[in-house]
Amino acid sequence: MKKITILLAAMLLSAGVFAADDDVVIRFSHVVKKNTPKDQVVETFKSLVEKYSNGKVRVENYPDSSLFNDRNEMSAISEGKVEMIAPSLSKTDQLYTDKEANPYLVFDIPFLFENPEQLKKLVNNPVLAEMSSTIEGKGVKLIGVWDNGLKQLSSNKAIDSASDLIGKKIRIQPSAINKAIIKSWGSSPRELSYAEVYNAMLYRTVDCAENPTSNFYGSRFFEVQKYLYTTHHSYLGYAWLVNSKFWDHLTPENKAAIQKAVTETNKLQSEIASLSNEYAIQDIKATGLTRVLEPSEAVMKVMRQSVKPAEDKLSPVQMNFYKKLKDSFK
Ligand code: LMR
Repeated sequence: MKKITILLAAMLLSAGVFAADDDVVIRFSHVVKKNTPKDQVVETFKSLVEKYSNGKVRVENYPDSSLFNDRNEMSAISEGKVEMIAPSLSKTDQLYTDKEANPYLVFDIPFLFENPEQLKKLVNNPVLAEMSSTIEGKGVKLIGVWDNGLKQLSSNKAIDSASDLIGKKIRIQPSAINKAIIKSWGSSPRELSYAEVYNAMLYRTVDCAENPTSNFYGSRFFEVQKYLYTTHHSYLGYAWLVNSKFWDHLTPENKAAIQKAVTETNKLQSEIASLSNEYAIQDIKATGLTRVLEPSEAVMKVMRQSVKPAEDKLSPVQMNFYKKLKDSFK
């Protein structure tokens, strides 16, 4: 008798019959520190969805690679080990079997935005909606694109002339376009997950990195990088992903509450990022440990010359999205 009871219990459990009522927990894993823009936006989403669902949907925020890191968060969400992540657009190649079909790498092209003000052209941009329909397989659904401003070049040594870039070991996010950019500077690209960057700077296995000021400050890079040049040379955005099976199995009430919170969060996120990146510059200067400097004309000339080798890396599909996106900014 006992054996049948256990078997029946196992069958019922697997059918979710014993599952609690329709209370839902969203585990949200990300790789940056508390209070960075991405973390603040997760917390915003958490408060909104718990409000709109009357507490039936809860969010557990796992910052700073505390649950999963750059190397395993994409497989974690595909396998349902977490319900949401927001990796940077440079890391979306894992979502595509055909990497040449990944439109999000166009955001790695330098100077896609001339200044932070131009980032507003991404809000409700129809090209973004078209891009989201290309995400295939991996059991995830894209529910938003968040912004974290423009990347600045930091270094442990002064970079005044073009020759100062030669041979510098520069940490990059893992994209073929980022690699082509850094090589065109005469520097040496180093693909590292975000959680490894601070120690790589500390032990000098990298000389430089490229981050928005909010991440630079949030991860205390001012302790291990003496210079920060306001190059604004490329963009950092995030793909907000949800596990498809989780999404499809939500009750209509919980899905409506989550969707309402998603829509509102996507409206608020850009403002959170632009304010954080602005304040971070003052906070970095206040540490007295990193000199925040305008880049020299010579360095900016090298950076602008990297647009062509980066564009040359685009596939025909990516080039098509790139042109559409630039046209949409006009
Ligand atoms: C990075 O790897 O530099 C960024 O993707 C970190 C972040 O903001 O997610």
